Amino acid sequence: MDEIIKNKNIYIQYNPDVFDNFSSKLFNTDYISKEGLIKSVADGRGKALELQYKNERYFLKHYIRGGLAAKFSYDSYIFSSLSSTRAIKEYNMLNIMKEQGLPVPKAAALQIITNRFTYKANLITCKIDNKGTLYEFIINKKMNHDLWNKLYMTLEQFYQKNVYHSDLNSKNIIIDKYNNIYLLDFDNSYFFYEKKLFRKSVLRLERSLKKIENYNDEFKKKLLDLINL
Ligand SMILES: Nc1ncnc2c1ncn2[C@@H]1O[C@H](COP(=O)(O)OP(=O)(O)O)[C@@H](O)[C@H]1O
Ligand SMILES: [Mg+2]
Repeated sequence: MDEIIKNKNIYIQYNPDVFDNFSSKLFNTDYISKEGLIKSVADGRGKALELQYKNERYFLKHYIRGGLAAKFSYDSYIFSSLSSTRAIKEYNMLNIMKEQGLPVPKAAALQIITNRFTYKANLITCKIDNKGTLYEFIINKKMNHDLWNKLYMTLEQFYQKNVYHSDLNSKNIIIDKYNNIYLLDFDNSYFFYEKKLFRKSVLRLERSLKKIENYNDEFKKKLLDLINL
C-alpha cells in the first residue's frame, strides 16, 4: 500500500517498499542540486534528472507540455481531479504493467502541486541499470540482428497486454547489459481499446528511426509484421 503525504496544495504518494523513509525534499530541485544528489541530466523530451539517494539511483521527471500547448504554459495542466493527473495516471499504469511482468521502470513516488485550477507534477522511478537508449545503440552501431529481434519481441509483449505508448521513440527505449529491452515514459499513455492505436505507435517509431544516422532498414520488415498482427 502506498503512503500519502498531504500538505495544503501539495499531494505526495510514494511506495514504502522503495523508500522506507521518504523525503519530500527529493522533489525540490534546489535541494537535490545543493546536496549533490543529481548524477546526470537525461536527454529526453524534458530534462529528467538521475538522482542518487541512499545508495540507490532514481529518475525524477517534471511533466512539461509539448507542441503548441507549451507556448501557453510550459508545465501547468488544467486540474480536474487527482486521479486524472499525468503523474498519477503514469504511476498507476507503471504499477499495473510491472505486475503483468512487462519490462518497465518501477514507480517510486509522485508529487502534484495544485494552484486553483491548474497543477504541476513530478514522478520518480527507480533507475533501470542500462547500457543506453535505442537511439544511442543505433548511432554507435551497436544494434545487431539479435537486438532487433529482442525489440520486436518486447513490443509484441506490450501489444499482447494492450499497452498504447503515446510517444514511442528511440529515446524511450533502453537496453541493459543482458540485452533486455525496456520501455519508458508512459506520460499520456493508456491501455488501448483499438488495435489500430498500436499500429499508430509502431509506425511513429519507424518514422523516428528513419531519421537516425546509421539506421538501416533491417527492422522495417519486422515492424511491418508487428503492424499486421
Ligand atoms: N527509470 C529509468 N531508468 C533508466 N533511465 C531512465 C529512467 N527514466 C528515465 N530515464 C532516462 O531519462 C530519459 C528521459 O526520461 P523520460 O521519462 O523519457 O522523460 P522525458 O522524455 O519526458 O524527458 C530517458 O530517455 C532515459 O534515458
Ligand atoms: Mg522520453
